[in-house]
Amino acid sequence: MSGQVFVIGHPLVQHKLTLMRSKDTSTGSFRALLREISMLLGYEVCRDLPVTMTQIETPLQPMMAPVLDGKKVVLVSILRAGGGILEGMLDILPSARVGHVGLYRDPDTLLAVEYYFKVPQEMKDRDCIVCDPMLATGNSAVAAVERIKETRPKSIKFVCLLTCPEGIKEFHAHHPDVPVYTAAIDDRLNEHGYILPGLGDAGDRLFGTK
Ligand code: URA
Repeated sequence: MSGQVFVIGHPLVQHKLTLMRSKDTSTGSFRALLREISMLLGYEVCRDLPVTMTQIETPLQPMMAPVLDGKKVVLVSILRAGGGILEGMLDILPSARVGHVGLYRDPDTLLAVEYYFKVPQEMKDRDCIVCDPMLATGNSAVAAVERIKETRPKSIKFVCLLTCPEGIKEFHAHHPDVPVYTAAIDDRLNEHGYILPGLGDAGDRLFGTK
């Protein structure tokens, strides 16, 4: 079974992504753009959320109107760069619950090492959206989703800003049941595990740490 990948080709997403890629874009602009793109990606990710009809009264008359059904969605941010996507997703899902997975890439092996894991209770009743801007080697994403699956959420989706063929292949080799939503699939990985042409280190650019 090969997994689903949704590339959000909307012109606003693509324009903002181009600005983010440019090495001349400041930390502040990069942060603001990631937040804006994440709202637009989130709009697509939430397209099939279930709704139920509820009785309300407008100022003019009663009506049956749709509201999101079920328990609140849980957004899981893969630290640290996942926080950039989380902000935009929370702008459109302000009542979502939030979990965090702390993983770092061992610089030699490029494998993911877990140092933090905290998610809300009652995961089994919740749709879960995992956030990380760069699906590169796929190692962190695979490890994070493995950990999240142990909590048995109702569903899992993965949202990133950028990915590459190697990252998608690795991710879906382990999690063919988890759809990936992204703004672009770039050419390839370099020998350091960075996406080319990419945008550099998303965490450093988001937090101004380099
Ligand atoms: N993480 C990043 O921040 N950038 C990449 O290109 C790959 C992984």
